[in-house]
Amino acid sequence: MLKHKGCVVWFTGLSGSGKTTLAVALKKHLDRRGCHVFVLDGDNVRRGLCRDLGFSKADRDENIRRVSEVAKLFADGGLVCLTAFISPFRAARARAKRTIGPGRFLEVHMAADLSVCETRDVKGLYGKARAAAIRDFTGVSQAYEPPAKPDLTIDTARISVRRAVADVVALLKKRGVLAGRL
Ligand code: ADX
Repeated sequence: MLKHKGCVVWFTGLSGSGKTTLAVALKKHLDRRGCHVFVLDGDNVRRGLCRDLGFSKADRDENIRRVSEVAKLFADGGLVCLTAFISPFRAARARAKRTIGPGRFLEVHMAADLSVCETRDVKGLYGKARAAAIRDFTGVSQAYEPPAKPDLTIDTARISVRRAVADVVALLKKRGVLAGRL
């Protein structure tokens, strides 16, 4: 019935690197082509399912564990699930990949430099982190471990959202998730 296979596109990157922006644009693009897509991000997950969690390493790992279980269920249901979380730790992302199944987990690294994200500072959080008003802030007072072998790297400082959408769509076709004619 569907024009695609169930899968998870896992966006990882610093706060302000464009994960949610790209996931939402990609969803719009795929919706128009009759695909069933769901976006999971901090806005719909940390206010409910993960509202008890903060930003320590243990809490982030638990956040990512729960997200990966939910994303797996969406993929089981045949949807294209787009996840937009910093997911800073390599081991937690590797666990998510095992949970979801390596054949239907595509890791996309939103590779914006810290200085670029900090200049954007859309939510004003980098300023607060530098002033030590927020602890454990990724890139400032806690680590971000970039993927060693992502399926795709998007240089968000240099390419447009439109081009980034096209790059992810091309990847989905190459991996057989989307029919080539879509
Ligand atoms: S993750 O590390 O567990 O994957 P997640 O993507 O859910 O993080 O949430 C990150 C968002 O929470 C950021 O974009 C930012 O808006 C907000 N936030 C609040 N405190 C922090 C912090 N200490 N470090 C990073 N992001 C934070």
